[in-house]
Amino acid sequence: MTANRIQPKLIIHGGAGSSLKGKGGAEVVRRSLYKVVEEVYALLKEGATAQMAVVHGCQLLEDDPRFNAGTGSVLQSDGQIRMSAALMDGTAQRFSGVINTSRVKNPIELAQFLQTSDDRILSDFGSAELLRELQFPLYDPMTELRLKEWMLEREGNFNKAMAGVVAEQELVSEAGRGTIGVVVLDSQGNIAAGTSTGGKGFERIGRVSDSAMPAGNYATVNAGVSCTGIGEDIIDECLAAKIVIRVTDGLSLLGAFERSIKEAHINKRDLGAIGLDAEGAIAWGKTSEVLLAAYHTGEKMGDTLEMPEEMGVLSA
Ligand code: GLY
Repeated sequence: MTANRIQPKLIIHGGAGSSLKGKGGAEVVRRSLYKVVEEVYALLKEGATAQMAVVHGCQLLEDDPRFNAGTGSVLQSDGQIRMSAALMDGTAQRFSGVINTSRVKNPIELAQFLQTSDDRILSDFGSAELLRELQFPLYDPMTELRLKEWMLEREGNFNKAMAGVVAEQELVSEAGRGTIGVVVLDSQGNIAAGTSTGGKGFERIGRVSDSAMPAGNYATVNAGVSCTGIGEDIIDECLAAKIVIRVTDGLSLLGAFERSIKEAHINKRDLGAIGLDAEGAIAWGKTSEVLLAAYHTGEKMGDTLEMPEEMGVLSA
């Protein structure tokens, strides 16, 4: 294996929300996030590529029913689960993804397969055909809690704007903005970003999430960003691509986050973002009250769960 040239960096998120209720709840989420950070960082230390590490991190987060992606995805207005996921390799500057895919355990694996395909973004019917072609086993990502949540909302005629972000009702209040995301700088200096979601919850059939668009997930050789929050707000800001391109054009990661989050704030958006750059700086920003993010700098782990600040950066 090639000798490590630089110290890998990692940041992940499990969505954003409107409030944290109870430290017991925050601790549960913190444990979930740190477990993923530890496992993915260990892979990076063994020499895993940024793309491999992102896919593995997304798989772990998709498998945790606490987060709105893969198992534990929220239900749409018709009671069905349709998930979206994207992977961007910053070195190849190549985006791939699936939109509104069903009956698969890990949508990020489809995005990974599509990285080397001529057709790199597939929607519902096409992704179902791909699943069949790849002989992935059929999987039902529905959980009891999500079903209960949908039934309650149905009784209320779907008045809520969005479903809850995490499974614990006591942790985050009803208006949630769930998605998961992973951004990595590997030991060879490659950057990759991955994002996966069950969507907003209770949305119209056919609604398309930001998570499988460059607005919600983007990377170049210079930086990578994954977003969470209200998809429509993220798309209107073109947030991930905007931050990454600002860095690519010469702004610091902090400067790019500051400018972009300020604009999102002025425009009254409800969102959050995590990112890192090729120099090894790690950053996050939000207009929502809470961002469920955790990171590894190579020296230490940390998180943003109880941070009131709109943004933060850890210099390389
Ligand atoms: N950010 C996830 C969604 O709105 O679909």
